[in-house]
Amino acid sequence: MRKKIIAGNWKMNLSLNEANELHEAIEKLNSSDNQLVKIIFPPFVYLDRFIQKKGHFNVGAQNVSQFSNGAYTGEISANMLKSIGCQYVLIGHSERREYFNEGDNILSLKVKQALQNSLKIIYCIGETKDQRQNDDFLSILSNQLNLLTESLEINDFENISIAYEPVWAIGTGLTASPDQVEEVHASLRIALEKMTNKTTALNTSIIYGGSCNTTNAESLFSCPNVDGGLIGGASLKAKDFLEIIALLNNS
Ligand code: PGA
Repeated sequence: MRKKIIAGNWKMNLSLNEANELHEAIEKLNSSDNQLVKIIFPPFVYLDRFIQKKGHFNVGAQNVSQFSNGAYTGEISANMLKSIGCQYVLIGHSERREYFNEGDNILSLKVKQALQNSLKIIYCIGETKDQRQNDDFLSILSNQLNLLTESLEINDFENISIAYEPVWAIGTGLTASPDQVEEVHASLRIALEKMTNKTTALNTSIIYGGSCNTTNAESLFSCPNVDGGLIGGASLKAKDFLEIIALLNNS
């Protein structure tokens, strides 16, 4: 059976003190929810510190280099992440695609690096506002998925989850409705089955991201093909993030 996943993407937020405070507050969580996979994605400079604390939350990186090592000033390799005990990595987030020009070639190299170093991947896809107006936006999304799957082996999917993040809903306060989200998730699962096989499609977690908060999480998590959430803004408030986790746990 596929796993339910809740992930907090802190993006480029929080000083060290603020990050410590948030981490301490979320770690107070009582662990009746231990069937959920819980991950935080702090900025790189805080990863090692939170990994060392060995708390309830898995720790992941928001990015990884497409190169294995060498003269790439400012980059962080998958091997470095693995060597500090980091378990997860986000790849394909729309902010990376948009602001850092990460196109399909770069993303598939990043996926390869992560898999070679046994990191688990949350791979983000999503349509822009303009693409959403297009009647055929579901095939735009399945093309994004296809670019991921075409270079992979079936067993790589044991280490990959998909995050559907409509670009128009990220950080905007606009959330896709549960019907819109379920429509996309169900169609991604069908597309995934065609690209891989039924078992892989059934076992791959597909989570939702884009202004998910304490008000809308319950209805989003009640959708049969929604296996959790990738939470940005609301994961920076311990109370809200814990409430969202509880909603997923009860869904
Ligand atoms: P948001 O971000 O919840 O602030 O919209 C989600 C994400 O970008 O992962």
